Amino acid sequence: MVRNVAELLPELEAEDFYLLSGVEQGMRFSEWVQREKLPKFASLTEEEVDYRLERCLKRGLVEKKTIQYEGYTLQFEGYDALALRTLVERETIGEFGSPLGVGKESDVYEVRSYKPLALKYHREGYTNFREVHKERDYTSDKEHVSWMYTARKAAEREHDILEELYPDVAVPRPIDQNRHAIVMEKMDGVELSRAKLEADQVLGVLDLLVGEVAGAYEAGYVHADMSEYNVFVNEEGVKVFDWPQAVPTDHANADEFLERDLENLLGYFRRKYPRRVPDDLSSDDLAESIADSSFESIRE
Ligand SMILES: Nc1ncnc2c1ncn2[C@@H]1O[C@H](COP(=O)(O)OP(=O)(O)OP(=O)(O)O)[C@@H](O)[C@H]1O
Ligand SMILES: [Mg+2]
Repeated sequence: MVRNVAELLPELEAEDFYLLSGVEQGMRFSEWVQREKLPKFASLTEEEVDYRLERCLKRGLVEKKTIQYEGYTLQFEGYDALALRTLVERETIGEFGSPLGVGKESDVYEVRSYKPLALKYHREGYTNFREVHKERDYTSDKEHVSWMYTARKAAEREHDILEELYPDVAVPRPIDQNRHAIVMEKMDGVELSRAKLEADQVLGVLDLLVGEVAGAYEAGYVHADMSEYNVFVNEEGVKVFDWPQAVPTDHANADEFLERDLENLLGYFRRKYPRRVPDDLSSDDLAESIADSSFESIRE
């Protein structure tokens, strides 16, 4: 698990961030950045580099390894610290709060500016990277820098998609993005998987969700990971989140994904609320009506 670096932020100094961003820059060329190259990348003197390396090593922000040379690489915590600092400097974030969700592919924390927001650090590539790493002793790159690159691309992608969908589709409002982190509005409510809908609400909620799937399709996207875990519900309605894997509707498999998303939703509702979903409602028919823009409602 990646530690929450928010607590470290107050004790980090400007030069620590020079060092971290120096390592980050070096990592564009190889995973392990040579010690000798750091003064240039970080714009720090030799002595300063040594002092800063020690501070960052001690705090688990960078990692050291001597193979053919003495090399340094960012830990996810170091990358988090860089993103967090940028978001604080931009005044996107003021205070830090507690975790909202910790997963394999992301860590989500509550943060605040003038109102409660959610900060999501993307972790795509992290697990794979660690596994690959155990087996092979890499000294050279490409695949390497990949956890950082993969996570950053996922964040950029999710932020871009949210910007395109909001506010026509019920998604959290995107606020900002830096590196592998995105900031968005904090959703109120609970995950659909944990919601206990009243019998007379079931069809209404399902209808809202299929409506959002249709709205996203109209806006050019298929979520492609639709499930009870990526939906929030509250009294006001639903929100669909977790969009980095979404595909554009002109993608070769878009309609397959659309049907699978609808199958997931229908399947979930049928299992959890038996007899509340009409038998003749099918994901094929729904997908078809969404794809040809004739979908209106699942209720007669
Ligand atoms: N904007 C938000 N407001 C409130 N909570 C959020 C927000 N975004 C995410 N969360 C919480 O964080 C959890 C993980 O978020 P998300 O589904 O986007 O990431 P993920 O990559 O799917 O993570 P996981 O691997 O755990 O599924 C969500 O299930 C939700 O509880
Ligand atoms: Mg999710």
